[in-house]
Amino acid sequence: MNVVGVSAFFHESACCLLQDGRLVAAAEEERFSRVKHDPRLPVGAFRYCLAAGGIGPHQIDCLAYYEAPVEKLARQLWAGVPAEAPGDLPWLDPRRPERALREGLGYDGPLRIFPHHASHAASSYLYSGFEEAAVLTVDGVGEWATTTYGRGQGKRLSAFEQVDFPHSLGLLYSTLTSYLGFRVNDGEYKVMGLAPYGRPRHVAALARLVESLPGGQFRLDLRYFDFVRGRRMDAPALAELLGAPRRRAGEPLAEFHCDVAASLQAVLEELLLEKVRYLHARTGAADLCMAGGVALNCVANGRIRREGPFARLFVQPAAGDAGGSLGAAALAWAELAGASAAGPAPLRHVFLGPRWSAAEIAALLAAAELPAEDFRGRESELLAAVAGRLESNQIVGWFHGPLELGPRALGARSILANPRDPQAWPRLNRLIKHREDFRPFAPSVLVEHAAEHFDLDHPSPFMLETCRVTSPLALPAVTHVDGSARPQTVDAADAPRFAALLRELHARTGCPIVVNTSFNTSGEPIVCSPVDALLTMARSGLDALVLEDFLIDRASLPAHWTALLPAWEERRASGFAAGTPAAAGVLPADLYTFV
Ligand SMILES: [Fe+2]
Repeated sequence: MNVVGVSAFFHESACCLLQDGRLVAAAEEERFSRVKHDPRLPVGAFRYCLAAGGIGPHQIDCLAYYEAPVEKLARQLWAGVPAEAPGDLPWLDPRRPERALREGLGYDGPLRIFPHHASHAASSYLYSGFEEAAVLTVDGVGEWATTTYGRGQGKRLSAFEQVDFPHSLGLLYSTLTSYLGFRVNDGEYKVMGLAPYGRPRHVAALARLVESLPGGQFRLDLRYFDFVRGRRMDAPALAELLGAPRRRAGEPLAEFHCDVAASLQAVLEELLLEKVRYLHARTGAADLCMAGGVALNCVANGRIRREGPFARLFVQPAAGDAGGSLGAAALAWAELAGASAAGPAPLRHVFLGPRWSAAEIAALLAAAELPAEDFRGRESELLAAVAGRLESNQIVGWFHGPLELGPRALGARSILANPRDPQAWPRLNRLIKHREDFRPFAPSVLVEHAAEHFDLDHPSPFMLETCRVTSPLALPAVTHVDGSARPQTVDAADAPRFAALLRELHARTGCPIVVNTSFNTSGEPIVCSPVDALLTMARSGLDALVLEDFLIDRASLPAHWTALLPAWEERRASGFAAGTPAAAGVLPADLYTFV
């Protein structure tokens, strides 16, 4: 039985395919369209999923959509149509998703629609492998719900309490993200990365924005927010409360901004910890599953793991709306196949996207007349060559196997560097990623050595929680200013070549760790194809690139390829925001309510 899951028309649209309950393919549309956070119908991801499953549209038994359009429209209408609404508001049509799915994807079979937070909950619990768990979903907003509390038992999943729009921890975080001069739905990671530079001096002020209520409830003080009916996230009262105007994008970051970020992070963590304890008391479950965009806050996740009441924590790696497609598909499968049917299997990895064979890459390199060293049949020599470059502080693009699902690169489309090199952090930010200097990088470590270097007593394969660095080695490239890191533990059973590279590094240097950051530059989605990787190499300062069994050194790139770099820099400097939905006219820059 073929069940396709789709999330679309908000941000990070995505598609996945379950075949007889087995997750065989999943990917975000942005990887194909090259438009970051692309919210449009996931045509490219849909085509890929069907090709991966070897089926055509007529062989789909059910298409599952992750959100209920009528309920969402009810909330949008409650919020009111803004006077300066952009365009003709085509999204204010509850039939639009179904029409777009059928017309855009050429599909006329059965369609099942699941609520947004039910999709989030299922995307975590039904892929966790737990027999029983408490389930928490937290995001900006779905239809009405912004937070749900529930439990999973066997195949059954239910929610017993929810918090409704406009009271939303995701929108609280996004509002402060906007106030701090970062783009909503994109800059939240930056605020989290900025927080350790500050002190939580504004906790008392920010605590006035959100009041915790009995049970799972909380309430925003809407005097400080404008996202319900306005065109901004924050109301003027927020600037008055904090005693400073909102920061414009690109303005220098001052101590004040760091302090606000630290305070916001503290307020969020305390509230989440309180509600997680409540959820534990209500359910009595030993383990917790989480999803929703707020579940990507890995600093909060680390505290929930360490200080919270649950023994184990599973966070859906694509916890944002992309993962909703997995949840909707799993709910449809459970309905159609019945409670006794197996699947989906516990999610051990997210290498679920397209891959390219060495032969395909050989043909591409030959056609482009790009000189590359061919290591086919000589993996250990390839790994030795890569490890040697990393040991001598080169920065290497690493392209291997199926593309990862979710916002984190996990060793399929990664940029790697030496974690002991003090220059790796600034060099990666300035020359490769073209992003703010303060943003930290994460380490990948062999799972069997993780506890020697990090305060981590369990696998963390999806890079979704922070912990203290306890390594006897200095690891300046991956240690944040507060002594924390966000490690990925690498298991040879799930990522054999990446693990073998780490073993090679360990044998050569005594350090089984590598800097692992996503293979993209600022404003771009993670690379998908070998061509994306080559173009990113041309317009960044990567020293070398591994494309499956081929190694390309920067020095061997044709002169006209490397000439792209200054041209790219010029476009960036002139304010060109590469491929963002806002730049493409897809999304209003700072208007959350109507998308
Ligand atoms: Fe969501």
